[in-house]
Amino acid sequence: MINIAIMGYGVVGSGVAEVCRMNADAIEKKAGQGINIKKILDLRDFPDDPFGDRVTHRAEDIFEDPDIAIVVETIGGTGIALELSRRALEAGKHVVTSNKELVAAHGPELMALAQAKSISYMYEASVGGGIPIVRPLHKCLSANVIQLVAGILNGTTNYILTRMDAAGIRFEQALSEAQEHGYAEQNPTADLDGLDACRKLAILGSITLGEYIDSRQVHTEGITSIMPPDLLYAQHLQMKLKLIGRFRLLLDQQADMIVAPMLISRSHPIAVADDVNNAILVEGNALGEALFYGRGAGKLPTASAVVADVIECAMHLGRLPHLITWAVSDRTIVRPHDDCPVQALVRLRDSLPAERVRELFGPYGAEPVQAQDLHEHAWLVGRDAVLSEGQLAARLRLLDADVIGRIRLFV
Ligand code: HSE
Repeated sequence: MINIAIMGYGVVGSGVAEVCRMNADAIEKKAGQGINIKKILDLRDFPDDPFGDRVTHRAEDIFEDPDIAIVVETIGGTGIALELSRRALEAGKHVVTSNKELVAAHGPELMALAQAKSISYMYEASVGGGIPIVRPLHKCLSANVIQLVAGILNGTTNYILTRMDAAGIRFEQALSEAQEHGYAEQNPTADLDGLDACRKLAILGSITLGEYIDSRQVHTEGITSIMPPDLLYAQHLQMKLKLIGRFRLLLDQQADMIVAPMLISRSHPIAVADDVNNAILVEGNALGEALFYGRGAGKLPTASAVVADVIECAMHLGRLPHLITWAVSDRTIVRPHDDCPVQALVRLRDSLPAERVRELFGPYGAEPVQAQDLHEHAWLVGRDAVLSEGQLAARLRLLDADVIGRIRLFV
């Protein structure tokens, strides 16, 4: 029997306990021995929970217990979760986490600590909820130079955009539904502003390159300024509007990275992901394309990935630790945003002579979009030659018109 502890008994932590109980026999077969949840650390008590008798409010009860081999961190954030993760690793406990904010911000430090102790630090559940992507990207695709990792990395915003589009409901209602389902972060700002997707993209980029990418370097826009007309343009163009994270490896080994709402063709493989689902497209130079699709958030899907890491860890106890580490280098990995290429739909309140718009965008191309019932003017730009973000921003400033907004195209 392997004893484990869970730190943080919220949506995901209690999901880990539920999966361990629900699938105890199958898990025992795979791990080679049963998994026993010996302690649960939380500020609260859970008297009605089947594991309520394991709750402790003292972290020492876990760190000082030599029988506990593996600690699950499902607290979230970078405050107490960082301190307790450090202490768990220093105490020689293998750590399994779903905490993408912590991995994105402090991954190198925690991985180095685990490496020094020859123990595992595993974070499959930090990206894509229940979808296997961290280990497949690191292991199964290791023969490739990965040129592209792109997709829908946040279940909450995908749920909101899907519901707004398909059910015609308002943003606030869709958000509260997502919160009821347990998809959103405690503070949903991280979902809505694109930060959660950005952290996941930085983790995937770091695995791809084997070098740490600081998520703060990644240009990030969320969905809070999306307006109903944006969704109407998407329908008009046979596209969907999705919050997409994209890592593209450039010839000079820099990466073009962005998280932003984008218009994507309805027939594109990534666009199949609606509701809470995530879809991550990986393109390698030997493999071609592979799509990773499934439930990107929620209690049991995320717990599925956490428990899989626990099983993997249990199977390797006493052997080489499981570590996917990143080197920390001084080089500029993320290409400055202004230098990255862009194609976009530009929405204008005023009508401008077509010659004026075409003259301004010159060889990059500008074609008008006529959307019925929308009393405004829109242009698709940058489809004929490579237009950079900086060039687009400069041209939007030069337009003698009120720019309502611009939405990028996923290409
Ligand atoms: N809030 C996150 C999401 C949870 O909606 O994708 C899973 O990481």
